[in-house]
Amino acid sequence: MKSLWILFVLINVQKLLKTGHCTETQDQILSITPKTEEQVDILKNLTSQYETALWQPAAPQYIQEESEVHLFVPATNLETVKNLLQGHAITHAVLLANTNELIEMQTMNDSTDPRSSTNFYERYHSLEDIYYWINRTTQENLARVKTILIGSSSEKRPLYVLKLSLNDRADKKAMWIDCGIHAREWISPAFCLWFVQHSLAFYDVNQDITDILDNMDIYILPVLNPDGYSYTWTHYTNRMWRKNRSASMNSDCIGVDLNRNFDANWCTEGSSPNPCTEIYCGAFPESEPETHAVAEFLRSHKDTIQLYVSIHSYSQMLLFPYSYTVEEAENHNELLEIAKEATEKIRRYYRSNYRYGSGAKTIYLAPGGSDDWAYNLGIKYSFTFELQDRGHYGFLLPPSHIPKACNEALTGVKTIALKVIEKT
Ligand code: ARG
Ligand code: ZN
Repeated sequence: MKSLWILFVLINVQKLLKTGHCTETQDQILSITPKTEEQVDILKNLTSQYETALWQPAAPQYIQEESEVHLFVPATNLETVKNLLQGHAITHAVLLANTNELIEMQTMNDSTDPRSSTNFYERYHSLEDIYYWINRTTQENLARVKTILIGSSSEKRPLYVLKLSLNDRADKKAMWIDCGIHAREWISPAFCLWFVQHSLAFYDVNQDITDILDNMDIYILPVLNPDGYSYTWTHYTNRMWRKNRSASMNSDCIGVDLNRNFDANWCTEGSSPNPCTEIYCGAFPESEPETHAVAEFLRSHKDTIQLYVSIHSYSQMLLFPYSYTVEEAENHNELLEIAKEATEKIRRYYRSNYRYGSGAKTIYLAPGGSDDWAYNLGIKYSFTFELQDRGHYGFLLPPSHIPKACNEALTGVKTIALKVIEKT
């Protein structure tokens, strides 16, 4: 009897080891709030020296006293990192201990046959599935949707923009939405798909989306950074990738932060010329084919596009220019008013709080961003959304949260678009 029991225990221990579901062996997300200047320096060193992924803030240089740091620590480094923190009397809390399960949840049943599923928009999708979806959506809505190839990524993946045009009224204006500029922010491409589905299904049903589409064409780029996105789908260890995947001339480090690569006070404070950082600005403005393709498209459509929207995650914010300077944009008050209205509506409908304001004053200086660049191009209504959540799951937001996260953003985008239509 006793030996049977031992056998049972052994088998289960083995199972645990195999599936990696033993909490102790999993990667963790730590929440750390440095209390002194010294602790800030230790954290900066730690995040640059050890193999970790900084979730918040975007780069070590932004770490400051009394503000919360979220750090992804691979299982292999967990002990070292925790010892180091303890050694310097820095306290931490474990935000998430079951990251492997969460990653598995996010990639689960991404069927190779996306046709078969009913809850397609409530799941995350591989890049392949998204390409398939783009094709199918276009084929099934020939009169309303066009696919425009605007360029290709550094690994030569196509960059497709969907153009939604629901009637051919003269003098129609347009808005632009891009998703997935940062690879690990999976809720962002999910939102672009959600938005297209909503537009096609609810035109002539829902008043707001009907008004919007009657007055505007909508250009949607579902995955601005396909190489990075595809990379985050390949292996657990790459899930936290942010940049694109281009090689650098003078370094072995890979990737440019595409939201630091636009020609807007490029590569000044808040980004970095070092290819090994998460906020590398690239060799020159628009050095990256992804950035260049978007910029070219916007330049050639700047007379019709009145509203620019870029979707990121996480932290629940609605930002507008400028991010490269703390100075106010020329129509700052107007943008503030619009952002206020959009976030109030989100709060009222979904009980979710979104902070709002200019980028530089709400989070940090971050030059070379698409929103600031589009603004300076002449698109005077330019916004960046940071979707759910506020740090509990961070980039590992479970699929069950997709509907609420997307509906919040949808409400926000629709509110903004209607405002812009009213004003222009
Ligand atoms: N989290 C985003 C980033 O760091 C914020 C973008 C705000 N806009 C900007 N131009 N930086 O890229
Ligand atoms: Zn982002």
